[in-house]
Amino acid sequence: MDSEPKLERIPPDESERIAALGQRLKEKVIRDNAGGPIRRDAHPKMHGLVTAEFIIEPDLPGELAVGLFREPGRFPAWIRFSNQDGKLKPDIRRDIRGMAIKLMGVPGEKLLPTEENAPTHDFLTISTDVFVTRDVAEFDDLVKVLTGNLVAQLFFFLTHWRVTWNLIQSMSKFANPLQIRYFSTTPYLLGTRAVKYSVIPHPGPTDTIPAKPGENYLREAMTRQLDREEALFDFCVQVQKGPEEMPVEDPGKRWDESLSPFLKVATIRIPRQTFSTPVRDKLGENLSFTPWHALPEHRPLGGINRGRKIIYDMISAFRHRENEQPRREPAGFDGEDSMD
Ligand code: HEM
Repeated sequence: MDSEPKLERIPPDESERIAALGQRLKEKVIRDNAGGPIRRDAHPKMHGLVTAEFIIEPDLPGELAVGLFREPGRFPAWIRFSNQDGKLKPDIRRDIRGMAIKLMGVPGEKLLPTEENAPTHDFLTISTDVFVTRDVAEFDDLVKVLTGNLVAQLFFFLTHWRVTWNLIQSMSKFANPLQIRYFSTTPYLLGTRAVKYSVIPHPGPTDTIPAKPGENYLREAMTRQLDREEALFDFCVQVQKGPEEMPVEDPGKRWDESLSPFLKVATIRIPRQTFSTPVRDKLGENLSFTPWHALPEHRPLGGINRGRKIIYDMISAFRHRENEQPRREPAGFDGEDSMD
């Protein structure tokens, strides 16, 4: 679109760096999953896949009433909660947690050329408001060094203080994935403007970390809560106010909420349910979330998101092929057991 402001700046070597990173991650998932099924490179440990409803707010002001948010409505959704670590570790370890939302029944052509008719629209969020690196090159350097020796790692962290700091402040312990605030960290279009997303739990009683936490205590906390009551979140957008203070090409920098607060555009309702079942777990394993399952009005922005366009598709295709599992977008909850 000619009228669209130039929000993005693509570094000249970006496509080579994306290809190198993709290859490196593929080799890593092969190593990490030797002898077993191939899991996701990131966020392989699932706490639960739950059914939900995504309810668009009525009477949104014009600047927010764009694309999905144009008019009030309700979309059924799958939501997958996870730990970020590439290996399945006890939940008490410090980590970044994920909340991946997949709306269904969303009309309109989507961005991925191979899945342009998919009825799904995804939002990927994590439990921190800053991503670890500025761009694909820095992320690739980090992945490279993490698979190298300790001296190289020490040198990298001492010479990349912001990566070190972002990592330290992002790795946390939590009591219950249904009671965490989540962020996209990377920006997205909202019509012609850039926004970030945040998912904010409604206030209510909160759990504490058990004195003797079991390996999977986060799943147990979700199970207890959803046995008892529904969980509610606000889905919010933060509109970019200035390219210097709120850069598109650097998700390692927080967009200051005092300059631009998060504004509610939808409610997420997770009804009471029994989700911890083998059928659900298998479906959760076989789903593929990507920020590029999206309408053009909500196109992912910035280098990290451009990298994710290629890499998520590549790793998801690889794990489905290796595990001999079908790879397709769900159309509704009726298909709960149709992806085996
Ligand atoms: C260059 C940067 C990044 C790379 C290379 C990367 C890579 C990946 C890969 C390969 C997967 C698994 C895909 C699949 O097999 O289906 C994944 C999952 C995920 N990523 Fe990223 N990621 C990046 C940045 C981010 C950012 C900025 C976020 C912030 C929201 C994020 C959140 C997630 C979440 C929540 C999942 C799990 C989705 C699910 O539940 O299936 N990632 N990532």
